[in-house]
Amino acid sequence: MDVMTDVLIIGSGIAALQAARLLGEHFQVQIVTKSSVKMSSSYRAQGGIAAVTSQEDHPKFHIADTLTAGEFHHERRNVEVLIKNGTDIMRDFLKEGIPIDRQADGSPALGLEGAHSHHRILHAGGDRTGQVMIDYLLDQLTSTIVVNYYEMAYELLLNTNGDCVGVLTKGAKGTKRYLAHHIILATGGAGALYSCTSNFATNTGDGIALAYRAGAAISDMEFMQFHPSLLWCKGEAKGLVSEAVRGAGGIFVDAHRHPIMKGIHEQLDLAPRHVTAHALFDKRAAGQETFIDISNIEHFEEKFPTIAQLCYDNNVNLQNGLIPVAPGSHFLMGGVVADDKGRTSISNLYAIGEVACTGVHGANRLASNSLLEGITFGQRMAQYIIQTGCKQENFLIDDKHHQQSMPSLFTKDQLQQTMMHTLGIVRNPIDMQQFVQQLPSLQILLHADLDGLNRQELELYMMHTVATLMVHAAITRTETRGAHIRTDKPQNDRRWVNRWIIFRQGQMKV
Ligand code: SIN
Repeated sequence: MDVMTDVLIIGSGIAALQAARLLGEHFQVQIVTKSSVKMSSSYRAQGGIAAVTSQEDHPKFHIADTLTAGEFHHERRNVEVLIKNGTDIMRDFLKEGIPIDRQADGSPALGLEGAHSHHRILHAGGDRTGQVMIDYLLDQLTSTIVVNYYEMAYELLLNTNGDCVGVLTKGAKGTKRYLAHHIILATGGAGALYSCTSNFATNTGDGIALAYRAGAAISDMEFMQFHPSLLWCKGEAKGLVSEAVRGAGGIFVDAHRHPIMKGIHEQLDLAPRHVTAHALFDKRAAGQETFIDISNIEHFEEKFPTIAQLCYDNNVNLQNGLIPVAPGSHFLMGGVVADDKGRTSISNLYAIGEVACTGVHGANRLASNSLLEGITFGQRMAQYIIQTGCKQENFLIDDKHHQQSMPSLFTKDQLQQTMMHTLGIVRNPIDMQQFVQQLPSLQILLHADLDGLNRQELELYMMHTVATLMVHAAITRTETRGAHIRTDKPQNDRRWVNRWIIFRQGQMKV
């Protein structure tokens, strides 16, 4: 079955919906989403949106915090766009009356999170910020926008000029072919490649794999952020315990209630995430349990209703003041290389939100900059497409590239365990070399024939593609920077400043 539309958006998180509500005023828009809008990282986001709204704060401080947390591996121009433009957009949302938590005088209640020099985290419903934002955007979608749920995009279609003009999807009704003038990847991240994650199981990096197969540039795949505090019960991660809890006074402690972060970083429990996650990893590797002590947070249940419910559901008694936590994969800084309008290296193909790599997060994203990224680049890309219009005339598909038979693969469970061990918080070169030998080659993944695969097999293929890009990049970057922590090279290396590891057409270049 063929569907022809002006704009096709793949994904349904904050970046997708921000773009859709603007594009829907001008064009026919179809959204294809692998699951439902409630199963995105955006919907789940607790802490909030970082934006400069107080008199004491200034964009230059927010920019400096972003650069410091990301260890200066940024596209600085895009960082400025994110902070300045993002702040303007959030101010507009506030004027429109978005239901952000406010103080008695009506001004926004501003939270604090790791590596922020100022209170600047806007939040809603206590710790339900993502849900409130998504509901707000959904309310603004025009009725002409068609949302296709439970359809998985698995192949981008290029025309004979090399422009992106469509995508193949698999859903309950079989395979569908969409043709469009503009194709937007807003598929989120790849946290589900790991056995311990804050992400939904559907976050398997599909947009990155799609773009890689189509020959688009992909970068920064060595940088996977681990969030230090996932609720940890019976040997499993059960969900996020927001960094906002530490912003409100929570402290990382061991079973004897000794503070963990003392002597490790001057910002203690509010150090950048790669620092706190590493500290907890070391404690746990030494056989100790790790907790957040919340005993000095007043009205915890009122401030953090989602987290309190999560604790009750998992029989964690908040009266003890200790929440058991462990680090887990959370956010991929790398992805499909995109500019400040979401344009990728393939014409008419765009990437926004976590799937994109615009260089705004560097080697470690600053807390609560991700929803800001989604609304900012979602809006900028939509404005660009509105100006450009729909001009594609060539819908003749070039389909001769994918003829290699699929190699044997890890099972999903094996892959997630191996990723956790090999490309987790701390990486060693021997394990990474062994892992890369067991994965398919970059060329095979590029040319593999996916016809006839079912949805589970397609997802496994996507996961292997993303894992392969990640391990090649992690082996190549012979330094420690941000979330990429190597046992054999434990320091930043000046020679790696401003160097990007880029994959394109099956080749890796530094
Ligand atoms: C959190 O609330 O700790 C997560 C927010 C983020 O990922 O920035």
